[in-house]
Amino acid sequence: MTTGNMPRIRFANLPTPLEEARNLSRVLNGPRIFFKRDDLTGSGLGGNKVRKLEFIIGRAVEEGHDTLIVCGGYQSNMARIASALGNKVGLHVELVLGGTPEDSRARNGNLLLDYLLGANVTYVDTVPRWEFGTALEDVREALLKRGRKPFIVPLGGSSPEGMAGYVEATAELVQQLTAMSIAPDRLFVAVGSGGTYSGLTLGAANSSAGYEVVGISVSRDKQYLIDKIPDNINRGAELLGLKSAPGCESLSIYDDYIGDGYGALTDACKEAISLVARTEGIFLDPVYSGKCMAGLIDLIRTGAIAKSETIVFLHTGGWPALFAYDSDVLPPAPGCP
Ligand SMILES: Cc1ncc(COP(=O)(O)O)c(C=O)c1O
Repeated sequence: MTTGNMPRIRFANLPTPLEEARNLSRVLNGPRIFFKRDDLTGSGLGGNKVRKLEFIIGRAVEEGHDTLIVCGGYQSNMARIASALGNKVGLHVELVLGGTPEDSRARNGNLLLDYLLGANVTYVDTVPRWEFGTALEDVREALLKRGRKPFIVPLGGSSPEGMAGYVEATAELVQQLTAMSIAPDRLFVAVGSGGTYSGLTLGAANSSAGYEVVGISVSRDKQYLIDKIPDNINRGAELLGLKSAPGCESLSIYDDYIGDGYGALTDACKEAISLVARTEGIFLDPVYSGKCMAGLIDLIRTGAIAKSETIVFLHTGGWPALFAYDSDVLPPAPGCP
């Protein structure tokens, strides 16, 4: 692999821990489950975006840009992490966020941190929240007129550069698995823009990983992702000098756990967040990792995953959004106020 030649700035605390979730397995009467703790990548409170941004910001700095333009939803984790990392390397950060300033969650969770980090926020009232029309280009034009050198961070960091972070994460994980003599059957990951899933799939195809990468979509339908992801993977493979991964017929993606849409809490997600907090002391988030865990739990309970299997759950972070969902995430369970 050729990441050695790619511009990169080291931000992440690596390797992230690989921990067995024995209590969770026991309560589910299910398979062995290991958490790969990418919620602990560190910078900007951590999450999967840190690995991607090492390469993306590396390129922006090498090309002489002085400003990052970052888009996402109101509670975008990418916005929070890019704002923090931008500050570390002296880049100004412009956020273009889907929603309106009147949103009741405006100044909590990730958005509170965005403001604290000093990012400039432009709101775009858009549905679906990942379609920004000309907004990014408009912000870019305005910055260029003011003499700045803006760099548009791709949505979710899902460029071939961003994927490099998760090809490397695969090598890190395989090393840990080997050292611990664990051979998992499947690796679970939340799918938003699909860059993390693509990088993990490419990484698995080019290593001795041996597991299936299972994606739980939090927003888009399965067909959309199956049409799009092979192209992502091919472009990543080309950039990194790797062999590509198998075609779309072999991608394992579920869109059954989205509920009413991106960011809309489901009962299963609430249960997953509460269960993992109470068994393992680990916080999941209401938008990504909670829904991914809801999918894993359902597949265990319905018998689609056998007790004899071994599962790795990639914890992609996102828990600051919990504070924007406050009472929504508390379960209607005995003992809960
Ligand atoms: C916490 C968290 N998990 C998972 C994802 C999904 O990653 P990707 O966009 O690469 O599919 C995101 C993306 O925003 C995220 O913030």
